[in-house]
Amino acid sequence: MSRIVILTGAGISAESGIRTFRASDGLWEDHRIEEVATPEGFLRDSALVHQFYNARRAAARAAQPNAAHLALAELEADPHHTVLIVTQNVDDLHERAGSQNVIHMHGTLVGALCHDCGHRWPAPEVMTQGDLCPACARAATRPDIVWFGEMPYQMDQIVRALEAADLFVSIGTSGNVYPAAGFVRDAAMAGVQTLELNLEPSAGTDMFDTARHGPATQVVPAWVRAQLAQRR
Ligand code: NAD
Ligand code: APR
Ligand code: ZN
Repeated sequence: MSRIVILTGAGISAESGIRTFRASDGLWEDHRIEEVATPEGFLRDSALVHQFYNARRAAARAAQPNAAHLALAELEADPHHTVLIVTQNVDDLHERAGSQNVIHMHGTLVGALCHDCGHRWPAPEVMTQGDLCPACARAATRPDIVWFGEMPYQMDQIVRALEAADLFVSIGTSGNVYPAAGFVRDAAMAGVQTLELNLEPSAGTDMFDTARHGPATQVVPAWVRAQLAQRR
């Protein structure tokens, strides 16, 4: 039985047609991070923030899981491994591919969160600044997304899983945003093997024991096939 913790980022969903953040045609080219991905930006102009995430939600709904998402679900279904996916992605393509053990450390587009009282409920297709919180009735509805300057979700659980893992795999992330960018170091310090699968070398590529570079729909299924063959 090998315990595998897999960190995923925007790159795994790129071939499903969802734009990444930092590519030359990436999301942060059209939008200033401070305006759409910080609590300060939300308080300043919530209409703009809702517009940004409504567009992300529509894009995610229209997208389909690709061969990389499907391969990870197949790995999880194999009895010779335990697989935990820690995703920075706010789409639900891992779940729609069949993965069950998924932590959304940066939140999810399918959730609504009250910025005032912390209540959570399923997001409507289109969220507006007039939407009232079902718990406190204030117009403080926001997407259930972790913004810059906020605490990522389930960090304790993630760190415990990392330290108990046999293998840490990072897929489709540029390695620019902490704390996720530090997981490879945390894993290495705990004696866990580390592997990077990304289109190109990430910012942290030198910290991995092994790296394979190429499109996720090719390198991820190839790696999963090798894992499955090795255990049979
Ligand atoms: P940061 O690294 O400065 O800190 C994030 C927060 O997590 C801080 O409050 C920090 O104290 C806390 N933290 C760090 N390591 C921790 C640990 N081991 N255990 C518990 N808490 C820990 O990050 P930031 O640049 O301010 O970004 C915040 C987060 O929001 C990032 O994870 C970022 O990716 C995410 N984010 C998401 C979106 C989105 O649209 N999906 C946009 C922007 C930011
Ligand atoms: N296959 C594999 N990797 C790919 C592919 C692909 N088809 N296309 C792009 N990539 C790689 C890029 O080379 C890049 O290294 O995916 C990575 C995407 O990086 P970013 O756009 O920076 O996305 P990510 O690492 O997920 O960003 C982290 O930053 O803005 C915040 O909260 C946001 O969760 C996000 C976090
Ligand atoms: Zn509320």
